[in-house]
Amino acid sequence: MKILLLGNGGRECAIAWKLAQSPKCTKLYIAPGNAGTSAYGENVSIKVDEFDKIGQFALHNSIELVVVGPENPLVGGIVDYFEQDPALSKIAVFGPTKAGARLEGSKDFAKGFMQRHGIPTARYRSFTKETLDEAYQFLETLEAPYVLKADGLAAGKGVLIVPTLEEAKRELSEMLGGMFGDASATVVIEEFLSGIECSVFVMTDGKNYKILPVGKDYKRIGEGDTGPNTGGMGNCSPVPFADAEFMIKVEERIVKPTIQGLREENIRYCGFIFLGLISVGGEPMVIEYNVRMGDPETEVVMPRIKSDLVELILAATRGNLNTAELEIDPRTAVTVMLVSGGYPGHYEKGKVISGLDKVKDTIVFHAGTALNEKGETVTAGGRVLALTSYGENRAEALARSMKAAEEIQWEGKYYRHDIGLDLNKYDQ
Ligand code: AMP
Ligand code: GLY
Repeated sequence: MKILLLGNGGRECAIAWKLAQSPKCTKLYIAPGNAGTSAYGENVSIKVDEFDKIGQFALHNSIELVVVGPENPLVGGIVDYFEQDPALSKIAVFGPTKAGARLEGSKDFAKGFMQRHGIPTARYRSFTKETLDEAYQFLETLEAPYVLKADGLAAGKGVLIVPTLEEAKRELSEMLGGMFGDASATVVIEEFLSGIECSVFVMTDGKNYKILPVGKDYKRIGEGDTGPNTGGMGNCSPVPFADAEFMIKVEERIVKPTIQGLREENIRYCGFIFLGLISVGGEPMVIEYNVRMGDPETEVVMPRIKSDLVELILAATRGNLNTAELEIDPRTAVTVMLVSGGYPGHYEKGKVISGLDKVKDTIVFHAGTALNEKGETVTAGGRVLALTSYGENRAEALARSMKAAEEIQWEGKYYRHDIGLDLNKYDQ
């Protein structure tokens, strides 16, 4: 079977790595891919929002399955685009419809959905420019810090956590005034929840589901989770506080009502669901839904799936995910992100990366890389490489990724040394 994967980040590199291992995958294309994905398939220079070109490519190359990595094409309706075209409708696309992608594309929709289906989440209300006075009144009923969320997609930057009421009012009026363009024409204000976060991934065909390994993200640039937010500096799986008891609550209170809720609202959903959860005194609550895998969570989740990912995805697209096996690797996986100096602020690109050939016990997933005219691998983004290692425990896996992080060089390379260390207190 010929497969087309859409995307170009570390997430897609890890998905490509996993898809390419399947005996069912005879040819893998990645559009547009990066310098690392070309080890697992052929990169195609089409962007993820060029639906016409993607459709033409799929037809001309007898693609039978399209796997969508990032949220933008899903929110933009790529699944509906394929379904509505008589020739393309024969091609299976793994990802939710535009209606389903609103779980990520509109925070107001997601909050309303959770409320309608009794799914635990922070108390909230949504406001527009017209209801600014009511929004101020609502803020006054909450306690600091204040959580303001742009309704629409804002490249991961649409959530503000503000320490004082005065600042919250000022930020709110700026958001409604267009701080994130149309994405913040509606703003969700919600109660701040205190706890520890984890990322739970679900694969569903709209009826059946499988819960994938849980990951924990390290979002801030600095050691000890300090400094500005990033796209994610590392991840680990499993997560000790997401134990069997916690996961039963997640399944009963969140996973089942989410899938049932989608059915009740006649929303067809075949794809990944990413639950951004917070454990508040051991009780899981939803911080956000995403309609794709996480990055860098995928870089620990894919290595922990033993089963054939193509078989799982095909079963999901055929509506019989219940017939597929999901076997999990019991080992721990830790990924450490190597980033460009200056990230998440200004950074330079085009730095030549050396030492990739020295790495032995670690999987190197490329995120922001490209090949220069001499054929050398160079940096091409803020997050450059995700180094994933297995271990009997987090310490062992982290030590392997740290060794690889030292072997790989480029000017300005930066990484965190403390991925997973905060979890030691939860170990049994
Ligand atoms: P993002 O990944 O940019 O959507 O950032 C969202 C982050 O904001 C989450 O990972 C949480 O750390 C934080 N956050 C969002 N909503 C809340 C909330 N209600 N209470 C506490 N923290 C929150
Ligand atoms: N790692 C968080 C995300 O992918 O949104």
